[in-house]
Amino acid sequence: MARTKPIVVVTRKLPDVVETRMMELFDVRLNEGDHPFTAAELATAMQTCDVLVPTLTDTVDASVISKAGPRLKLIANFGNGVDHIDVAAARAKGITVTNTPDVLTEDTADMAMALMVAVPRRLLEGAEIIREGRFKGWSPTHMLGHRIYGKRLGIIGMGRIGTAVARRARGFGMAIHYHNRRRLRPELEAEVEATYWESLDQMLARMDVISVHCPHTPATFHLLSERRLKLLKPTSYIINLARGEILDEDALVRLLEEGKLAGAGLDVFEHEPAGNPKLMAMKNVILLPHMGSATIEGRINMGEKVIINVRAFCDGHAPPDRVLPPPA
Ligand code: DGY
Repeated sequence: MARTKPIVVVTRKLPDVVETRMMELFDVRLNEGDHPFTAAELATAMQTCDVLVPTLTDTVDASVISKAGPRLKLIANFGNGVDHIDVAAARAKGITVTNTPDVLTEDTADMAMALMVAVPRRLLEGAEIIREGRFKGWSPTHMLGHRIYGKRLGIIGMGRIGTAVARRARGFGMAIHYHNRRRLRPELEAEVEATYWESLDQMLARMDVISVHCPHTPATFHLLSERRLKLLKPTSYIINLARGEILDEDALVRLLEEGKLAGAGLDVFEHEPAGNPKLMAMKNVILLPHMGSATIEGRINMGEKVIINVRAFCDGHAPPDRVLPPPA
């Protein structure tokens, strides 16, 4: 890459402090209006830049990558999940991909706990009663929800975020269970007092709450299929802050309608940004607009990570957060 400042295209508005630093370091093209890039805008950007900084709202698939210009050598994703990028196709074309892990772990885990409490304890319904002036005074049977203390939490995907959720959930008195491609190191398993389930099916059938924290890859698409959702107890809750595609949303709707699940807290949707109208109408479901990691601190940290990756790469070093294609 030339020793002049690299041309960096950033597809969405980032925090001011991040954009200011990028302007100092790079020949940066920002998106002040923050509109999601059209396919044509993305294609043009990829023809002209040295570094693309996309987000999860950009579909950087194999066909887009095949048309990238010869200058493009780095896709420095602003975000942790890279399911919108064909990492294998990028690699085949000699383009490195990086992401921003770690810095959104604690915020996302906080939000998982928030949903894990809010759904069984009917937080939104309670707040609506006050807002609508319907509170007529305390009564022993009013607004009864379900306890999470002492319940079994099954975490799907025990990476950074899953482990951070486990630590918090221990503090809430929950028993931690998990399913993961690989078993945790014994010290870490002991620290969060977690029980490993090699069989996801067997774990599902025994849990009170399921929290999804695995990445979305071809292997995890509809991991929670209708068949698997049917294994859950009718008293159980599902929390998903990973990706909507991991959960068969239509099957979830059916099971909730039939009273075969107790409720759900979803921060992500299968056809994002479109939310499912049936889920929106359900009192035992809380839907959030993909805001699990949305803190000012986290977004600035993510921007700092992008800058570090771009600088390291352009200086000829291995970027710290290089992403490899998912296992087949
Ligand atoms: C990510 O970075 O992948 C998150 O989903 C954004 O919140």
